[in-house]
Amino acid sequence: MSGNITFTMIKPKAVADGNMGNIIAKIIEGGFSVKALKFTRLTKNDARKFYAVHKERPFYNDLVSFMSSGPIIAAVLEKENAVEAYREYIGSTNPADAAEGTIRKLYATSIEANAVHGSDSDENARIEANFFFSQREMF
Ligand code: RTP
Ligand code: MG
Repeated sequence: MSGNITFTMIKPKAVADGNMGNIIAKIIEGGFSVKALKFTRLTKNDARKFYAVHKERPFYNDLVSFMSSGPIIAAVLEKENAVEAYREYIGSTNPADAAEGTIRKLYATSIEANAVHGSDSDENARIEANFFFSQREMF
């Protein structure tokens, strides 16, 4: 059975472009309720840890630099079947392939600066939420 929680980040470029309000509004419009939210920044070490699953990939170092280049929004979202529903709502990793109306189609500028992160499993959603939030910050 799939869970009801996912984790998202609004990535540095989307924040720098002034799209954090638009993206939060779009998330809520999609029927996701916000269980936790913060405006914060990843150090390089935080980004290395967060994306450790990708450490053998050719884009890992760039991704770590990019994700620690400026402030982000981190949030925990709730909806039925949240992980899959949110990945569908944000669109493909590469915005060139993202469906019309998805967050990445609307706000991403490249495959790296693809506006938002979305957890890829219930297990990772839990790990990622706990990476940013204490129990008392999740409502
Ligand atoms: P995310 O984890 O951020 O939700 O994205 P995703 O599942 O759609 O993509 P994933 O394969 O997990 O990749 C993580 C992030 O790495 C960057 N990336 N760059 N230059 C490249 O070829 C490349 N491929 C991936 C993207 O920022 C992607 O979201
Ligand atoms: Mg991923």
